[in-house]
Amino acid sequence: MAHSKLSTKHLLGIKYITADDINLIFQTAENFKDVINRPIKKVPSLRDVTIANLFFENSTRTRISFELAEKRLSADVVNFSAASSSVKKGETLLDTVNNILAMKVDMVVMRHPAPGAHHFLSQNISANIINAGDGTHEHPTQALLDAFSMREQLGDLKGKKIVIVGDVMHSRVALSNIICLTKLGAKVKVCGPPTLIPKHILSLGVEVEYSIKKALEWCDVANILRIQLERMDIKYIPSLREYSMYYGVNKKLVDSLNKKIVIMHPGPINRGVEISSDVADSDQAIILDQVENGVAVRMAVLYLLAGNRSN
Ligand code: CP
Repeated sequence: MAHSKLSTKHLLGIKYITADDINLIFQTAENFKDVINRPIKKVPSLRDVTIANLFFENSTRTRISFELAEKRLSADVVNFSAASSSVKKGETLLDTVNNILAMKVDMVVMRHPAPGAHHFLSQNISANIINAGDGTHEHPTQALLDAFSMREQLGDLKGKKIVIVGDVMHSRVALSNIICLTKLGAKVKVCGPPTLIPKHILSLGVEVEYSIKKALEWCDVANILRIQLERMDIKYIPSLREYSMYYGVNKKLVDSLNKKIVIMHPGPINRGVEISSDVADSDQAIILDQVENGVAVRMAVLYLLAGNRSN
């Protein structure tokens, strides 16, 4: 029987939800995708809900996508940016959140640089918490929108071959993608320079392929990651130019494959580093479809979690 409720009150990470939860989010997102393609893109579902978007780290896609999703569901929305807040005067995370919740906020969407910040909050506050990215740990709604977008291209992901390319070491998108895709029965490989592949990666049920050409020959979908120089405390690659020469996905490489693969990137893109413009802007790339699907997927997550508010 199809499930109608999520098994959890929060979305702290993909590791805490089940394959049934993921499929319920996808079914719900399909309905919301229809809604946001209508002339009137709004439904009254969260008319009685107030949501705070707390961003302690920069964001373009995730922040705007959540805000749009909330407004499309008719929620009341408040936005908080740490850079212009009393965090700068030394206020703690818990004091900040408790003060915002005192203003009758029901749900919290948060991006924070510290892995586990959401888990800590979930043990100390009663509002629903949605992880919009915690350091190098998880980015669950990105993984959900990525898998939803792959499913639109390939159908059921069971047995489909996905390669995640690049800076796996510093990527919360990679970890959430790996957990999500393996829960859905996909086969996952990671590909990148050895210094950017974490030592524990095999324990997640993925394989490692160091040759970009072999990885792309194998896969149905390549999800290409940004090189996150801002998270590198030491040099993991000699230079961006050398990274691009050995692991950059460019038109010559894509055209040399014996099949057509789907190209994805979570954004923001470093054009000419991990992906060339002629690949990023090609018909094979679904990068802007990912962004479009993000709104529907986040509407589904917010709607379903709001249904678990009394848990
Ligand atoms: N993909 C993603 O998380 O992008 P932003 O950092 O712009 O939100």
